[in-house]
Amino acid sequence: MSTALEHPTYNYKVVRQFAIMTVVWGIVGMALGVTIAAQLVWPELNLGLPWTSFGRLRPLHTNAVIFAFGGSALFATSYYVVQRTCQTRLMSDRLAAFTFWGWQAVIVSAVVTLPMGYTEVKEYAELEWPIDILLAVVWIAYAIVFLGTIKRRRTSHIYVANWFYAAFILTVAVLHIVNSAALPVSAMYSISLYSGAVDAMTQWWYGHNAVGFFLTAGFLGMMYYFVPKQAGRPVYSYRLSIVHFWALIMVYMWAGPHHLHYTALPNWAQSLGMVMSIILLAPSWGGMINGMMTLSGAWHKLRTDPTLRFLVVALSFYGMSTFEGPMMAVKTVNALSHYTDWTIGHVHAGALGWVAMITIGSMYHLIPRLYGRSEMYSVGLIAVHFWLATVGTVLYIAAMWVNGIMQGLMWRAVNADGTLMYTFIESVEASGAGYVVRTVGGLCWVVGMLVMAFNVAMTVRGKQRLPRPQPQTAA
Ligand code: HEM
Ligand code: HEM
Repeated sequence: MSTALEHPTYNYKVVRQFAIMTVVWGIVGMALGVTIAAQLVWPELNLGLPWTSFGRLRPLHTNAVIFAFGGSALFATSYYVVQRTCQTRLMSDRLAAFTFWGWQAVIVSAVVTLPMGYTEVKEYAELEWPIDILLAVVWIAYAIVFLGTIKRRRTSHIYVANWFYAAFILTVAVLHIVNSAALPVSAMYSISLYSGAVDAMTQWWYGHNAVGFFLTAGFLGMMYYFVPKQAGRPVYSYRLSIVHFWALIMVYMWAGPHHLHYTALPNWAQSLGMVMSIILLAPSWGGMINGMMTLSGAWHKLRTDPTLRFLVVALSFYGMSTFEGPMMAVKTVNALSHYTDWTIGHVHAGALGWVAMITIGSMYHLIPRLYGRSEMYSVGLIAVHFWLATVGTVLYIAAMWVNGIMQGLMWRAVNADGTLMYTFIESVEASGAGYVVRTVGGLCWVVGMLVMAFNVAMTVRGKQRLPRPQPQTAA
């Protein structure tokens, strides 16, 4: 496929492999998102078959977008950034290759087993125990490659992006191993080691920190390398980056109970989760502001550089969703938002607006460099992708806000005699228009990803060559 020359110092092969799979899994995961979004409008699209039903395709969507798309992007960028900023080759090419093939094996196993109905029924941790073990082995190999590369660095300091990546890798290992602890009963069935409220608390300690470390810390690592690079400016405040790093990783750990408000969890634990979530606004915005301010003196570049636009809009959505999250963690607000589409809107403000946008911006920076091209095949097509993604995200989250608040209000509305004013099915009927708008937003995203795939394919095949990159630190 590629005619790109191998870099003399760095292992670009594994970075290229993960970068290409980011685009592939992005298309698959988002196409699944559109499918389940459409199923909520037209249930006949379930096709009456168990393996294409909403209940089985939904976890396939979440696994595909978070672990296949997001995971591949994190592997690609962390392997690239750690080599460039430590000025050394990955610790082991073989182990790095193992992480690539092992990760793809985990994903393919998910694609096969989830539609078949095999699940541990823990959200974002559905995969059954044999796949969990493979995942743990691959992840430990990842930790060894990444930390081993840092250890053999030729620079005196460790650039802040690597701190975020390292925190993400280590924490995800702990979260996955603890939350997946289970007693195998048969080849594809196991029982959780935890029960009752402890099981719920462990699951949401995992779930929330999956958001905090997989969907946030790792992508902040990406942000700290690619935003300064693309803007051609140093990080606004290196000191702020270190302060908000420590604050972020220390506070995230305590916020999980906000997923379990008004449940059997002790009240004090719920209140602790609420308070910690509100505090979390500060370190989150520390990162957002640091990223934004890095553009000081480079704002004019937004006019001509759609890659930078992806990165900046990602930061805006990061700021927005980390304002919305603490608000939703307040118990009285959660009483309205919980179980409604408001949560789904919040999720996708983070997932599409932040995670997917920062990934795509980083890929448009990375891919030409990996293949020795001066830039992407078509900057115009990046701009087309940018608008499709932005419009798609806005349609998605606006529809879910309207639906969510409407549902919450309909469910709590009571008549003078205390009976419910609306039946549940009336709230479902009223949500139909919002679901159509969300499906259209999702379609915009999928079309944008197909445009990206074309642009990437042309870039990979292109004839232009870039002079060999010189090793240098970020910023
Ligand atoms: C084309 C784009 C996308 C569409 C149309 C889409 C659609 C959907 C739909 C319909 C649901 C189920 C909602 C429900 O049960 O009511 C869902 C759930 C979810 N999606 Fe997406 N999605 C897209 C992209 C993404 C991306 C890129 C990510 C992550 C990086 C993501 C993460 C999630 C998560 C975490 C959930 C579960 C939310 C929860 O349980 O609260 N999605 N998505
Ligand atoms: C300061 C940061 C944040 C806080 C305090 C926060 C808080 C919350 C709260 C209160 C909920 C609703 C829980 C419920 O009612 O069930 C929630 C759901 C969720 N948030 Fe956030 N959020 C933050 C940032 C983010 C970001 C940046 C992302 C994505 C990249 C994200 C992804 C999610 C997901 C996936 C869920 C749904 C979990 C589920 O029920 O399946 N959050 N968040």
